[in-house]
Amino acid sequence: MKFFVDTADVGEIRKALAWGILDGVTTNPSLVAKTGRRFEDVRAEILQLVSGPVSLEVTDMTFDGMLTQGRALAELGPQVVVKLPLTREGIAACKALTDEGIRTNVTLCFTASQALLAAKAGATYISPFVGRLDDVSTDGMGVIADIVQIYGNYGYATQVLVASTRHPMHIVAAAKLGAHVCTVPYKVLDQLFNHPLTDLGNAQFLKDWAKVPGQS
Ligand code: E4P
Repeated sequence: MKFFVDTADVGEIRKALAWGILDGVTTNPSLVAKTGRRFEDVRAEILQLVSGPVSLEVTDMTFDGMLTQGRALAELGPQVVVKLPLTREGIAACKALTDEGIRTNVTLCFTASQALLAAKAGATYISPFVGRLDDVSTDGMGVIADIVQIYGNYGYATQVLVASTRHPMHIVAAAKLGAHVCTVPYKVLDQLFNHPLTDLGNAQFLKDWAKVPGQS
């Protein structure tokens, strides 16, 4: 399973890259706003750092506007994946951009039926938001299971990118279901490393090592 970091914070991306386990980055308008920086500056810096897929989202909600913005974003680098909302216009733009050879990530997906539309439009990625579904008492991972099954039934090439992940068990559940990608906040990526027995075991090994003659 691929790991993307879900952030527009360049410092977080740098730290995640240093671990050697990062495959790409997803951003959205809210994450960019959180940085307090200009989108132009943030995306340029991310594209300099990251060689894997980087999702950059359109903000014009018209079909023509999405095509214009999508094409301009795609020009910024071969890593760019154009992020489009799961609206009628977004799906039509997904089909048009896909036909031009531009990679797309259809976002704000909450149902398997929406995911089917994105696959039919040739999306590179579909982003179902599991955390936001869980927030409204709907089983986010159940939606992932349905999408994985449906895509498998028909051999769709669209990759399931599990989004809005909130804790390590979302990542484990997504991997068990065979989802292609998880996009994960930096804090949750960091949490994946943690286990108290790892810390205790390491402390004991170091303590014992100090007793080995000739070591300190
Ligand atoms: C996905 O690409 C979205 O940017 C993101 O995962 C949304 O997460 P949130 O529900 O925590 O805002």
